[in-house]
This record gives sequence, C-alpha cells and structure tokens, in this order.
Amino acid sequence: MKKYKYSTFANCVKNFSKKRILVIGDLLLDQYIWGDVSRISPEAPVPVVWVQKEDYVPGGACNVANNLAALGADVSLVGVVGDDLNGALLKNELEQRNIRIDGIVEDSDRPTSQKTRVIAHNQQVVRIDRENIDVVGSDVIKKIVDHVKYNIDEVDGVIIEDYGKGVVTPDLLKAIVPFVRKKGKMVAVDPKENHFEYYRGVSVITPNHHEAAKAAGFPLKNMIDICKAGEKLLKKLRTDNILITLGEQGMMLFEKDKKPRKIPTLAQEVFDVSGAGDTVIGTYTLAMVSGASPIVASHIANCAAGIVVGKVGAAVVSVDELLTRLKMETRGRV
Ligand SMILES: Nc1ncnc2c1ncn2[C@@H]1O[C@H](COP(=O)(O)OP(=O)(O)OP(=O)(O)O)[C@@H](O)[C@H]1O
Ligand SMILES: [Mg+2]
Repeated sequence: MKKYKYSTFANCVKNFSKKRILVIGDLLLDQYIWGDVSRISPEAPVPVVWVQKEDYVPGGACNVANNLAALGADVSLVGVVGDDLNGALLKNELEQRNIRIDGIVEDSDRPTSQKTRVIAHNQQVVRIDRENIDVVGSDVIKKIVDHVKYNIDEVDGVIIEDYGKGVVTPDLLKAIVPFVRKKGKMVAVDPKENHFEYYRGVSVITPNHHEAAKAAGFPLKNMIDICKAGEKLLKKLRTDNILITLGEQGMMLFEKDKKPRKIPTLAQEVFDVSGAGDTVIGTYTLAMVSGASPIVASHIANCAAGIVVGKVGAAVVSVDELLTRLKMETRGRV
C-alpha cells in the first residue's frame, strides 16, 4: 500500500455518495433472540431460554445493500419477500437504512426467508431456518427484469448476490446481464459455487477460496493453484476480472492480459469474519464505478473488509473509517 498515494484512494472514495448501485439477490431476515438459561426443561433435555431481547437485521443480499448505504451510496435492492409480517419487518429495517425497496417483489407462494438464532450467555443455543429455496416463478422474474430495465439509466452498476435461494436463475441472468453490459455498466457477481456457468460475460466475480476451487474443479493448495484457477475462470467465463478472496491472506486479482496480483491483508485483531465477502463486493463495485482501476478498487475493498472483520456481527464501514484506514496504510502506519 505504501507505493500508492493516499489521494489515489481519496479521489475515488469522495465520489461514493454520487453513485447509485442496484443489488439483486436472495433477501433474508436475520432474527437474534438473546436470553438467559438457568434450567433444563422438564419436558425434554433442552435448555429453557428466558428471552431478554430480540433484534432483526437484514441479511443475505440485504447486507451488501447495507454496506453500500453505509458508504454513502444510493442503493436499490431487488429481490423477493413473502406476503407476510417478516417481509414487512424486513422492508421497514431496509428503509430505516436508506435503502430503496421499490424493487422488492412480494410473492405470496413463499415465506420471507428468515434465520433465527437463539443466543444465551454469548453462545448459540439453536438456529431455526424458515425458507423456500425453489426457484422463483416466471412472473416474479419478469417483475425483477422490468424493474432493472426501467431503472438502469439512473444506475451506475449492478451487483448480483447469489446465495442459491431461488432468485438468481439462468433466465434472470440471460435477461439482465447482456442488457446491463450493453448500457456500458458493470455487473459484479458474488457466486454460488454450483452456478458458475450462469455468469458468463459478467464484469467481475468475487468467489472465496472454496468457491473458486469448486468452480475450477481442482483443490487450491498453494498460490500456484490459485493462479491457475483464476486464469481458468477468467478465460472460461470471459469476465473482465476475477477477484478471489482468501480470508486472512487477503485477495488475488485476475485481469485480462495481466499477471495476477496479490493484495495482502495487514495484521489486525479479528472478531468476526462473517459478512466480509459482502463488504468486498460492495466496496469493489462502488470503487470501480467511482473511477478506480481494478487494482485500486481491490485495495479499497480489502481495506474495508479488514475493518469489518474487526467488528462483531455482519458489520459495515463508514467513509470516514475507510479514509482513516487508507491514510494509515498508505503512510505505512499499520
Ligand atoms: N482474518 C482476517 N484478517 C484480515 N482480513 C480478513 C480476514 N478474513 C477475511 N478478511 C478480509 O475479508 C475478505 C473476504 O473474506 P473471505 O475470503 O473469508 O470471504 P467470504 O468467505 O466470501 O466471506 P463471507 O463469510 O462474507 O461469505 C478477505 O479478502 C479479506 O480482505
Ligand atoms: Mg462469500
């Protein structure tokens, strides 16, 4: 990072608040139930949790939108909820975070996806999932495609967040990806490991180590394997870039006709790595549409993810935090 000037990053980050990003993907409502346990149930050998507090947090693709909104971008979220109370709750949480929700389709044939975690004395007692992961119907796909087509001229970039829960289908991608790219706008995809063949021709894919290995078809035991996998995916899927995230080792950027480049993380305290991938795709895309080159966007995304892993839960980063950290890193103070 020391070889970059702080102004290279700051000039890009200052444009974040002028950009609009559309996030399409699987929406989820995370529910946290916090309580105390002091006895085992007389009915079955399970703890009795005395509930003290309940929180609702937007999850899945909503977390990418949340990251973008925290960085000052104008964000539209597109996906599906059920015609139910959880859907209303989720939309309310999103609106409170300044995320546009007019692209969210209500589907009365499925429930709003929800993950409930019961936590007592800082330990998870049980997780309860409610979801229908069948692919969405053609009527829902049409509504999503229409929304994208109607809004594309006001949007700077599109992110597809594929959690494999039924929203991101080949039909949807066939209708959206060539259309958005013809408009000269980028499409970034956070992939589901068995959907790679769907993503041909997008701008960038951001698989983690495990997803990249699955897609490449061989294990990634060292940097040579990682380079082979990235090059293979770049050629096969004809994307502009592939950004493989490597957890505590940072990330590896692959660009057409260029040597792969490693972006290492800097030593820091890590509290919670969950959601770091969401921060990467959000920040990388926002940086790209704000004028950064792929390598500069990767450094900014790596830096943002480095901040997020130092916070508890699927946290977000503000522009001030990001600029402070970029200043420290370019001046070699971390
Ligand atoms: N232990 C760590 N120390 C520093 N940075 C980290 C650490 N773990 C993750 N990161 C940062 O977060 C980025 C994404 O992490 P990772 O490769 O684990 O993504 P992921 O598996 O997609 O995460 P997610 O759980 O959000 O899906 C990394 O490229 C790096 O910048
Ligand atoms: Mg991920």
